[in-house]
Amino acid sequence: MARLKLQRFRASEPPDDVQARYIRVYKGRDLHDHPGTLPPISAETLFGVSAPLVLDLGCGRGEFLVEQAGANPDRYFVGVEWHIKSVWDAANRAHAAKLDNVRIVRADLRLALPIVPDGAAAEMLLLFPPPKLAPGERKDDLLNEAMLHQMHRVLLPGGLLHFVTDHAAYFAAKRALIEAGGLFAVQGESSAFEGGLTRFQRIWEAMGIASQRLECRRL
Ligand SMILES: C[S@@+](CC[C@H](N)C(=O)[O-])C[C@H]1O[C@@H](n2cnc3c(N)ncnc32)[C@H](O)[C@@H]1O
Repeated sequence: MARLKLQRFRASEPPDDVQARYIRVYKGRDLHDHPGTLPPISAETLFGVSAPLVLDLGCGRGEFLVEQAGANPDRYFVGVEWHIKSVWDAANRAHAAKLDNVRIVRADLRLALPIVPDGAAAEMLLLFPPPKLAPGERKDDLLNEAMLHQMHRVLLPGGLLHFVTDHAAYFAAKRALIEAGGLFAVQGESSAFEGGLTRFQRIWEAMGIASQRLECRRL
């Protein structure tokens, strides 16, 4: 089945004060050319506290991120997303919910993870990443070996990686990669209709496609 392209939607650019509060932009060129000169992506720089983060990698329009942040006011949530209108939408949503425990980092995840300090996150969400499986797409895959090493470095020992996809072949390939890597232990696996927790999950579930979920503990 052809993949859905759902990035055409109306989103209003947040006012300057909302952008200043919620959005941090890391340009690809800066991340690539001089990552060491940029502020690290950490609870200290984003929230002014010392605390473990929850990272939503490819947070899209931020519905799940904002809902989780509202339900867990004592935790610190960071969505990473490169699509500008999704970033705006997520920031508007966080502002409407009057939350101060959410930030949206606009960046290419593959370049942004290396500037997250070791052990900065207690949890990571990778929810419906684009399923890149062709050999020529390996560098674009958000769950390739290099990304898994970064996730392992960034998570605290015992921290959790939640991976969810609608795509059976992608799930099987990534499960095998995770199990072979020795960096994570699979501690939960399911295939289920979960009630549309994220925007993409709602779309796939409406089409009769269940989500495949893997919960992995960082070793
Ligand atoms: C299929 S959507 C899933 C969105 C959300 N997690 C959900 O479940 O509704 C995948 C998201 O990942 C983002 N994305 C893909 N590659 C990315 C990258 N290299 N850096 C940052 N975001 C990326 C896309 O822009 C898109 O918003």
